[in-house]
Amino acid sequence: MKTVRDIAAARKVLAEWRDRQLSVALVPTMGNLHPGHLSLLQIAAEYAERVVATIFVNPMQFDKQDEVTRYPRTFKEDREKLNALGVDVLFCPDTSVIYPHGTELTTRVELPGLTEILCGAHRPGHFTGVTTVVTKLFNILQPDVAVFGEKDYQQLHVLRRVTEDLNMPVRIVAGRTIRESDGLAMSSRNHYLSAAERERAPQLHGTLMHTAKQLISGDRDFSRLERSATLKLRNAGFKPEYVRILASDLGGPEQSAVSDLIVLAAAWLGEARLLDNMILRNLMHDAPHASAR
Ligand code: PAJ
Repeated sequence: MKTVRDIAAARKVLAEWRDRQLSVALVPTMGNLHPGHLSLLQIAAEYAERVVATIFVNPMQFDKQDEVTRYPRTFKEDREKLNALGVDVLFCPDTSVIYPHGTELTTRVELPGLTEILCGAHRPGHFTGVTTVVTKLFNILQPDVAVFGEKDYQQLHVLRRVTEDLNMPVRIVAGRTIRESDGLAMSSRNHYLSAAERERAPQLHGTLMHTAKQLISGDRDFSRLERSATLKLRNAGFKPEYVRILASDLGGPEQSAVSDLIVLAAAWLGEARLLDNMILRNLMHDAPHASAR
């Protein structure tokens, strides 16, 4: 695996591949890689002849500078994992390579509406950081395919819209959420949980699963279901930011068939902000691990 830190070097490799008409799949990450990230790289390899992973802790998508500083960094282990998987190129630029003019007075990619609900309502500016950096990575690396996790469902949906709105010729592919054996969605943030919190953490998945099953059994009193799930999380020691039942396009659920619904939640447990969702389509049909656009 080739490790590349600057844009010119990345473009050189990519140009060679393009000359040979090799297709390229990209998996952007912030590092501290776990099996969830690695599953996306396996999907990427199914979709293209060459796979590029990126590791970049993007300061523009964090609310506070200290969150950037304390973000877990495990570069050496990450590189070994990527190498073992057969990834072709790791692009891991410094902040100054991506933001030579800083993160304030620079061009941004903004999608109103979709980025202002759910996580966006609690983390203003977060998604603009995500859409800006992913657009930059797409421009630098010009992949044919990019793979993102359903775990961050709103992010996936926002990036699909940005790609479509800006006519970027990149196919967005979604990867299923990879979980610990007790149901907790894998996340770099799980490191912030104490041992006692870690024991309670799977209740987030459990609560979403319970709500999803109530929906499947025909209950369509969405606000009561949201309230009861929120209360359940509170009683289990979480501080929920939201529990919402929406259509899979993140619009209102009223007109949607049950198979098109999704239950989404964000909740704090101690120092960790946990994010999870349950896509009813996945639960109802045993769909393949990757769902193409
Ligand atoms: P990061 O949190 O490192 O996640 C990188 C990718 O891994 C995202 O597409 C995310 O949805 C996916 N992922 C995380 N946990 C997963 C799990 N348990 N199962 C499957 N996929 C999982 O998301 C980001 O980084 C950043 O916002 C980024 C897109 C890289 C832009 O900076």
